[in-house]
Amino acid sequence: MAGFENIEKLTDQIESEKAETADQIEAFRIKYLGTKNVIKPLFAEIRNVANESKKAYGQALNVLKQKAEEKYESLKAAQEDQSAADVKSKIDLTLPPAEKYEGSRHPVSIVMGRMIDIFEKIGFVVEEEREVEDDWHNFTAMNTPADHPARDMQDTFYLKDSTTNLLRTHTSSVQARVMERQEPPIRIIAPGRVYRNETISARSHCQFHQVEGLYIDKDVSFADMKQTLLYFAREMYGPDTKIRLRPSYFPFTEPSAEMDVWMGTETETTKRLTKGTGWLEVLGCGMVDPEVLKNCNIDPDVYTGFAFGIGIERSAMQKYDISDIRLFFENDVRFLRQFGSVV
Ligand code: DAH
Repeated sequence: MAGFENIEKLTDQIESEKAETADQIEAFRIKYLGTKNVIKPLFAEIRNVANESKKAYGQALNVLKQKAEEKYESLKAAQEDQSAADVKSKIDLTLPPAEKYEGSRHPVSIVMGRMIDIFEKIGFVVEEEREVEDDWHNFTAMNTPADHPARDMQDTFYLKDSTTNLLRTHTSSVQARVMERQEPPIRIIAPGRVYRNETISARSHCQFHQVEGLYIDKDVSFADMKQTLLYFAREMYGPDTKIRLRPSYFPFTEPSAEMDVWMGTETETTKRLTKGTGWLEVLGCGMVDPEVLKNCNIDPDVYTGFAFGIGIERSAMQKYDISDIRLFFENDVRFLRQFGSVV
């Protein structure tokens, strides 16, 4: 019977078909499953099949059609596997991995972290406080008189519609906060950001960082302060570091001083930062004014103490030879990447 033979022939043909590329597989689909496929004419042949065989013929044709579909699916699957394998074989596993940039510590954080380490070694404890302060903690408790220029809008950022809330102008506000809630002995350092209404230039910015220090106990003397600050300077800038204390004035300390560290004038940066003198102004300090102790409910007849406030940016500029303070706040990754990875 011709009809059945044709089915058998096509079955063998489908089985032996080899199609590997996408084009070959598409040709297979058109040939066996397309609108003018080679199986279709066999359906028309059913007319010429003897009546008793029609059923078997129809079933055989359906099996053939199904075979064509299965073959098509398996050719497609094989081709997909192959192209995935091709991509894989092109990957060179011996190549070193692409460099991953995990970020770096900001130079201000590095220097601040170093200062914290130095003071923690001698028993100072870190206190962090709010950047939005009130007038009492930033100025009044710190003995800053009402007519002091720092209180002026020209120098301080007040919050909108407020004459009492402001962005703290120094970390000294933390002194007041801690003294109010803690009885002596107090030995704290307070690192953080401060704000002043300054014109931004290569030398000054409207935001910068300080590390405040406060030590209150019985019989704390100016000599204690000097030794502590000398220890700090030698840890920070090297064992042969020279310091000098210049008399100064701050409303919250009496007597007050500023401490300079000898840097020399060898580099352009030190020349600029020291204004040509070789002495870098590093911090303000002094014996806590009895008025400040009283404002914070500490008895000045029993306790004395010293305080200091260290500027961070200037030390970081000196350490890393950075000539413009604005670079710290621009977040340019090309600048930041120079300071090593996060550890
Ligand atoms: N608060 C001062 C400033 O921002 C720095 C300072 C000076 C802090 C003397 C102190 C200090 O604790 O005793 O300029």
